[in-house]
Amino acid sequence: MKFSDAIEEIKNRLSIVNVISEYVKLERKGSSYVGICPFHADKNPSFSVNEPRKMYKCFACGKGGNIYTFLQEYLQITFREAVLMLAKKANIEIEDDFSSNESFKKNAEKKNKLYELYRDAANIYYKILFSDIGKAGLNYLISRKLTKETIKKFGLGFAPNDFGYIYNLMKKKGYDDTLLFESKLFRLYNGKPCDTFYNRVMFPLVDTYKHVIGFQSRTLDPKPKERKYVNSDDSLIFHKKSFLYAMNLAYFSKENYYILCEGNMDAITIHQAGFDSAVATMGTAFNEQQMFLLKRKPKKVYLCQDTDEAGVKAIISSDKILKKSGIETYVIDIKPSKDVDEYINNYGVDSFKAKLNNPIPTFLFIISTLKNKYNISDPYELEKYINEIVDRLTEISNTFVRDSYLKKIALQENLDLGILHSLLEKKLKGNKVVYNNETANQNQNISLNNNINKSKISKVDSDFIQLIYLLPEYKNHILSIVSSDELYDDIYKCLYKFYENGVSMSSIYNKIIDRDEDEKQIINTILSYNLSFDEDDKQQILNSLNQVIRKIKIRNAENDTDGSIESIYELNKKIIDINKTIYIK
Ligand code: CTP
Ligand code: MN
Repeated sequence: MKFSDAIEEIKNRLSIVNVISEYVKLERKGSSYVGICPFHADKNPSFSVNEPRKMYKCFACGKGGNIYTFLQEYLQITFREAVLMLAKKANIEIEDDFSSNESFKKNAEKKNKLYELYRDAANIYYKILFSDIGKAGLNYLISRKLTKETIKKFGLGFAPNDFGYIYNLMKKKGYDDTLLFESKLFRLYNGKPCDTFYNRVMFPLVDTYKHVIGFQSRTLDPKPKERKYVNSDDSLIFHKKSFLYAMNLAYFSKENYYILCEGNMDAITIHQAGFDSAVATMGTAFNEQQMFLLKRKPKKVYLCQDTDEAGVKAIISSDKILKKSGIETYVIDIKPSKDVDEYINNYGVDSFKAKLNNPIPTFLFIISTLKNKYNISDPYELEKYINEIVDRLTEISNTFVRDSYLKKIALQENLDLGILHSLLEKKLKGNKVVYNNETANQNQNISLNNNINKSKISKVDSDFIQLIYLLPEYKNHILSIVSSDELYDDIYKCLYKFYENGVSMSSIYNKIIDRDEDEKQIINTILSYNLSFDEDDKQQILNSLNQVIRKIKIRNAENDTDGSIESIYELNKKIIDINKTIYIK
């Protein structure tokens, strides 16, 4: 059977209850089976498996999906591996197994060769670190207070001060020049092959599938002017933008939070201090792809970036990205140190632990940094400061949270709570648009700049994609109503394009085989969001689709407004119209 046909067939042949029972103890309860959720620290049996729908769902942490997503998450394997594994169980022989796809096969072969090469190189760097020619490197790491255990855990190594040392060792292992040069660990210098990295400490970059996919290297100079860190370039297997250092360890942590920091040394020091959920952006600005990596598990994020101006900016911008996707954030303030590595080395593990036990809600942190912008002993400046705080407060949609912050600020800044309250009310009223939403949210108020809507953006778009796949016969009609520009980001646009071209949902995976594992994981997450309706009830699907399209249209209308009174008025009218429209009949 072809790989693409097997995907549905396997799902039909196998019992999801049997598959999951191999890993989770399930008990029958009514029409479904329940157990302790394997994806979060579950106390009650919140994990439920539904045989007729072939789905599982945890009502506490929200994880859900089908047999494939379960194995992917539980065993940390790829979609392809999960299908092949279950094909055996279902007694299905997969004839193409991608072998018909030559370009895929070549690509996969090359990837595997690179994984192997980097793994071998990492082992060599590691061995050298503990040999005579690695002394300088080992001494450097010891001077950074790393223990041998930590060095081992992160597989740190040393590239000796010798131009062709590693090249010669790799040649002896039988590697050919083409692959060696392609790995960029070696290059030609004046026609002579030599090592790209020399006299540097080596940090292997490991993905969550435990592949070594590149390196970061550091000079031994404690305060270098330039080229302090040099990283592997992006390649077939390494994409810096969708990588978080130490995620290979943090992913398996039992903590209910991630710690997000900037430098690899920061992450390593935090792990050494006994907190195993730290990851580092390696100096790049935190971005959406990295957010998706964090979002694979329902956890809070503790922002622990550097304390310089760039670090504070990084906190504000990462908070924005994380909040948008519904992740709660807190700040671990490590002033007066410049970064968390320095903090732990200067103030000790206990002091850092105390900070983790008392993380600062990001909103409170941000307003305390605003304070430095104004000279608040001047009443006019104070007014500007208060206005800016209250503006930010209006962005918080939860009334209870907003009120409790207001009280905190009044106390902290010694201000009259009543005055703050009426200012907030005034600003909230100014922003409010009332719209009438006929089905779901009856007469609900939404405000501009409201993050509630934005935090659900991905869910809206994921629902849209799933719903339209259930309605192939409406394709042309749907395409004429929603353009791909109206979708939230590239991934949804790409999935929409597949739908337009008649790609079935189960063969999407064949279309994306060349992408990196993390992107595939993201697409899989999107496709396995649980929909809240019965898949056999057509009218219900149509109603849901109309509702989702309305949300998309309202979101785009909101993005088009400039906040002036006239545009708010226009927007209000538009929303009323949108809510009256039945887009797909
Ligand atoms: N970085 C990089 N290239 C550089 C400088 C920095 O890739 N030229 C990345 C590294 O991952 C580094 C992170 O950005 O760890 C943060 O940079 P910085 O704050 O300058 O380094 P520290 O983490 O303080 O590094 P160290 O403590 O080793 O000096
Ligand atoms: Mn540092």
